Amino acid sequence: MSVEIVSKMKKGSLPDINDDLLFLIDVERFLDALPEEPIFDLVVTSPPYNIGKEYEKQVPLEDYLVWQERIINKIYPRLKDTGSICWQVGNYVENGSITPLDIEIAPIFKKLNMHLRNRIIWHFGHGLHNKNRFSGRYEVVLWYTKSDSYTFNLDDVRIPAKYPGKRSYRGDNKGKPSGNPKGKNPEDVWDIPNVKGNHVEKTTHPCQFPVGLIERLILALTNPNDLVFDPFAGVASSGVAALLHDRHFWGCEIVKDYINIGKLRLEQTLDKTIKYRPFDKPIYDPRTSALSKIPDEWRTSNEDSDL
Ligand SMILES: C[S@@+](CC[C@H](N)C(=O)[O-])C[C@H]1O[C@@H](n2cnc3c(N)ncnc32)[C@H](O)[C@@H]1O
Repeated sequence: MSVEIVSKMKKGSLPDINDDLLFLIDVERFLDALPEEPIFDLVVTSPPYNIGKEYEKQVPLEDYLVWQERIINKIYPRLKDTGSICWQVGNYVENGSITPLDIEIAPIFKKLNMHLRNRIIWHFGHGLHNKNRFSGRYEVVLWYTKSDSYTFNLDDVRIPAKYPGKRSYRGDNKGKPSGNPKGKNPEDVWDIPNVKGNHVEKTTHPCQFPVGLIERLILALTNPNDLVFDPFAGVASSGVAALLHDRHFWGCEIVKDYINIGKLRLEQTLDKTIKYRPFDKPIYDPRTSALSKIPDEWRTSNEDSDL
């Protein structure tokens, strides 16, 4: 099964929304070429954070936000009324001071009168160890809907309840289990390992997000055959999540190497050979590792005397 890479778009032409496509085109040029028709069910992305990664040119924060606003404004008319936009961001860091990008980007969506449904905290366990502030271990997903009638399949993403054996103690349901047999709402703080080191999804891309983070959004915010779009697709992690669950995917990316890796990953997803970490896999417990043992030389003489 194959996924096409498109590198040219004629203004006003609409590719087949039932195809899975990667566009080797600057997202602004791509959106300018696309007719102003609502075709996307979900737009999910992690844009460059303007922190000088190899795929971006660092610019003053104000200029970066103007650029982001131009793109979001061009996406908006292409989003269906029932659709959602999920913008996943971390911090812009300058001289050791952090600017959480979600705070800066929220006013752009507000101007469009979009509805913020959740500010999801994506918590992860690995990253830089800071010396002059607490080490950062979360990023944010801003989830916006275009209207009040939006797709939300809560039952498809429920997680096991903490106390499924709990029973109602009064009223008509007294004595009956009080929870939902399908599990509980997964809440808005998600613990999902980031793609570092020997993570099964790691490619040469320096800033992939985990497929599992997007899987839950795709299951909850779209239906089978819906069209998911990632304007900054990287190695198509959003596409892997979309194709795993029988949705269609379009993604834009300007770096050829990343788009080639993305194509391969999407084809592996269609062939069911893709390696990924599912969103519902339990988090590894580090206490089971030999590395969690305190080194003998760190033990104090007091501890020694207790032994
Ligand atoms: C944070 S990364 C996204 C990584 C992606 N979530 C993944 O898991 O692979 C941002 C990506 O946006 C791409 N990019 C930067 N400017 C772009 C533009 N104007 N149009 C399309 N893609 C762009 C970069 O090359 C980079 O791969």
